[in-house]
Amino acid sequence: MIYSRITGLGFYVPETVVTNHDLEKYMDTSDEWIRERSGIETRRFFTEGKDTVSKMGARAAEVAMERAGVTPQEIDFIIFATLSPDYNFPGSGVLLQRELPFRNIGALDVRTQCTGFIYGLSIADQFIKSGMYKNVLVVGSEIQSNIFEKSNRNRDFAVLFGDGAGAAVVQATQDENRRILSTHLFSEGQYAEDLMLEHPGSNLQDRLGQELFDEGKHLPYMKGRMVFKHAVTRFPEAIQAALDANNLTKDDIAVMVPHQANLRISEAVREKMGLREDQVYNNIQRYGNTTAATIPIALAELYEADRLKEGDLICLAAFGSGFTWASCLLRW
Ligand code: UT7
Repeated sequence: MIYSRITGLGFYVPETVVTNHDLEKYMDTSDEWIRERSGIETRRFFTEGKDTVSKMGARAAEVAMERAGVTPQEIDFIIFATLSPDYNFPGSGVLLQRELPFRNIGALDVRTQCTGFIYGLSIADQFIKSGMYKNVLVVGSEIQSNIFEKSNRNRDFAVLFGDGAGAAVVQATQDENRRILSTHLFSEGQYAEDLMLEHPGSNLQDRLGQELFDEGKHLPYMKGRMVFKHAVTRFPEAIQAALDANNLTKDDIAVMVPHQANLRISEAVREKMGLREDQVYNNIQRYGNTTAATIPIALAELYEADRLKEGDLICLAAFGSGFTWASCLLRW
């Protein structure tokens, strides 16, 4: 049997650290409100002219490939998850392809927002198990600090997000004890408009009309409380589906890495699942929500802290815009 395994992890975050107090200069908010509602203390903002979504992805990928002991020449396929691509088209995958000395391999952008990295891992897993590819690069990268106006107009949302990138090398293996065990992917499109960025979209004749800007249709929109409620239900469902499919229980989990949407969501999920604090890893305090990048950044940090031990059961789970939700279980 051929299986797939994560063999290298890396991350890159821009150098500019932005505190909650820094945001107080632009909108009516407070360090206290942001910490209390989300757990966030700082986030990173990109540097124009230096950081782009694809370049940040490339920096994370370089580290992941070095740790995996593979060169760009050996990578067979690129999967790039982002909601903030460099361009409307082409995708950021091809921009990453030209950034490093890869061969003329396929490059696929994944557009499932917060679940993008797990969807990407699932695609990598299927390509590897089918025998088509041996070495797949999965990247999650976002620049979100410029999606928002630095004003009161979407302050509930703007304070939550940050910029960053993470990457994983997924390789073929025959070792059934160290591998991706399963991925579970879900969606419920009826809630698409409850967490979205509408324009410039393709459904209007005038994609860039002034009234769209006046109405704020170029800004992300979120029904925060609704998203929160769905998240605390869907996260545990996805995790339980993964455990059931593998005849495992929550006590078998060494580390759970939830998508970093809000510390209160992670805490609620942990409590609902009956997991101990030491079983769940959070870093939203430092980076905010970096959407497709939260999980690979967290995994790379765990790796660097030597907290991923051979044979450990690692659980990844995410929920977000779409709505989409997903989980992945793997044996490190
Ligand atoms: O990965 C993407 C998925 N996104 C999420 O998972 C986010 C899910 N939702 C949430 O995390 C929370 O709903 C938020 C953190 C976005 C908001 O927390 P909340 O407890 O639901 O607050 P709220 O939106 O109900 O607002 C409470 C109050 C309001 O004032 P009033 O009406 O009570 O006077 C808001 O106007 O807080 C006010 N408010 C703010 N105050 C200071 C909203 N944004 C801010 C702000 N600073 N940035």
